[in-house]
Amino acid sequence: MAVQASRYAQTYALAKTDPEQFWLEAAKGIDWVSAPTRAFDAAQGVYGRWFPDAVVNTCYNALDRHVETRGDQVAVIYDSPVAQSKRQLTYREMRDHVASLAAVIQDQGIEKGDRVLIYMPMIPESLMAMLACARLGAIHSVVFGGFASKELATRIEDAQPKLIIAASCGIEPNRIVAYKPLLDEAISLSAYKPDHVIMFQRPQAEAGMVAGRDIDWSETVGAALKAGKRADCVPVKATDPLYVLYTSGTTGKPKGVVRDNGGHLVALSWSVANLYNIQPGEVFWTASDVGWVVGHSYIVYGPLIAGATTVVYEGKPVGTPNPGAFWRMISEYKVKALFTAPTAFRAIKKEDPNADYLKKYDMSHFCALFLAGERADPDTVGWAEDILKVPVIDHWWQTETGWAIAGNPLGLGQLPVKHGSPTVPMPGYNVEIVDESGHPVPAGKMGSIVIKLPLPPGCLPTLWHADDRFREGYLETFPGYYNTSDAGFVDEDGYLFIMGRTDDIINVAGHRLSTGGMEEVLSSHPDVAECAVIGIKDSLKGEQPCGFVVLKAGVTRSHADIEKDIVKLVRDKIGPVAAFKIAITVNRLPKTRSGKILRGTMKKIADHDPWTMPATIDDPAVLDEITTALKDKGIV
Ligand code: COA
Ligand code: AMP
Repeated sequence: MAVQASRYAQTYALAKTDPEQFWLEAAKGIDWVSAPTRAFDAAQGVYGRWFPDAVVNTCYNALDRHVETRGDQVAVIYDSPVAQSKRQLTYREMRDHVASLAAVIQDQGIEKGDRVLIYMPMIPESLMAMLACARLGAIHSVVFGGFASKELATRIEDAQPKLIIAASCGIEPNRIVAYKPLLDEAISLSAYKPDHVIMFQRPQAEAGMVAGRDIDWSETVGAALKAGKRADCVPVKATDPLYVLYTSGTTGKPKGVVRDNGGHLVALSWSVANLYNIQPGEVFWTASDVGWVVGHSYIVYGPLIAGATTVVYEGKPVGTPNPGAFWRMISEYKVKALFTAPTAFRAIKKEDPNADYLKKYDMSHFCALFLAGERADPDTVGWAEDILKVPVIDHWWQTETGWAIAGNPLGLGQLPVKHGSPTVPMPGYNVEIVDESGHPVPAGKMGSIVIKLPLPPGCLPTLWHADDRFREGYLETFPGYYNTSDAGFVDEDGYLFIMGRTDDIINVAGHRLSTGGMEEVLSSHPDVAECAVIGIKDSLKGEQPCGFVVLKAGVTRSHADIEKDIVKLVRDKIGPVAAFKIAITVNRLPKTRSGKILRGTMKKIADHDPWTMPATIDDPAVLDEITTALKDKGIV
């Protein structure tokens, strides 16, 4: 443990005392069309904007600038146990594909500022689609393949993309997920209609094409490549949006998190080197999905901006074909650092507790494991340390921030690891723990975790076309601060501990979901009078959703049938990723005298946590009924 060697303290202090100098220095890692003369303008935007006078292109920084110096280096490794396919693309090949795809996109009338929705699985073409948009200054919005039509439709309606780029299918170990019917259904549900769809056909399930609207990727991009037809990088303002990524909010309507070009480039370039300790030419593998922020930042943009090699893995930690899948990947591609969610390691540990599969592989290039997306439980961290014998680094962030709020910066020199803590705030994040009235609480005491404004480069400047929703949702509860909606504490050494959300968001297998959104779906069932969804502890996924429903008077159908309907309804409306499997019919829900449902107490009962009778409860007997219902389902 090299605590004395770390440059963390002085680096963090400099970012705090002289952010202009710190971030202008970090900005030197980027090739600007017009370099920033100042780092921050407090007068612009909702809380200020980073690099207000700079001009740049993100795709140029991720691809073109590397072609001169490392054109033949592999930029993207694709490995798909589910499609039984492997492929590697150099920086030059990526640049050529992206420039030709961008030309095809341009032919559809897409210009700077237009939105393009991307609905694709873990294949290199997804990265190409994102980078081609970035090349043109078009704003991409990637939707995760595990979402169903209705969720997709909501995003189409909000982002109003002129163009959608999709693949014909995704591949799950147990099934082929045909995307085209989901997409067509979403377009028909949405009041807004895109002009065109560019379709990447996969042999596992070819999509039917709509004449006049749908365009075949291989034909058009193939022809453009052959003809040497390429689009140039379009200069954009550093403050122009690069992408909008929707994430669960406290209602069924997702929030469009906006990411700018300049701040994002600087934050990712700084973090790849200083947090993940990845140098140009090294292999950095993030086992997530391009549909999540982790995938945006560290499958696509971060490693490529840094001139590293990124890995696109279309598979699972277990079952594709076995719990040695990650070790095979690390050894085959000489991976230096892996970043994934703790749930992936819980899955491996469950199937191979003694890590027998690991013994078969050469892990000599592997230097660190990074975990994020949910709380890294000390058991899992300890197990990973024992078997891998490398630092296991928990780090904490959100879709909104785009990069880690807290972490252990290996590039600055590792700080001692404390199990259960994502270590310390990253430069630019002034994190405080406060009570309900916004007053700082002493070390060791739980409170709301807030970040003093301004947020550092890379974080959201606002929500898509919703400045007011941004202010209300994040900035109003604690004036002058961004409310993370996470609760936790800081210990006497300044280490952060993130203990859970203060809103209705739950975290299922590292996927962020809104219980409020699920409740909207449950309430839409014709037999349901009222409902409550809570996240209950799950040894593999961290949490799993559990829905309680009260039926309307006079309903005669069996409870089992209605519960089956409800499970299907959530799968159809939100998607399989919601992993909603438990629906329980009860006669009443526990409420306070003012009618507020006591979800917190229900959760404690389901989780076997100690609980006390809420003083404001209307009828204490309801909690016995809930306990009995949970017992009947085998949950307690
Ligand atoms: N497209 C379509 N369906 C998808 C999907 C996608 N891209 N991703 C997941 N799904 C489906 C799964 O097939 C599953 O369907 P099922 O109910 O028919 O089995 C359902 O959504 C739930 O998926 P998940 O919660 O991921 O469970 P799982 O049992 O398939 O896998 C893990 C469990 C732990 C192996 C898996 O969650 C995992 O690898 N996690 C890694 C971490 C990660 O990716 N985190 C994301 C943010 S960092
Ligand atoms: P997402 O926006 O999907 O990345 O989810 C963000 C939320 O996941 C955070 O607000 C936390 O609640 C949770 N989270 C992410 N990383 C961690 C972590 N390292 N420890 C605890 N919770 C985490």
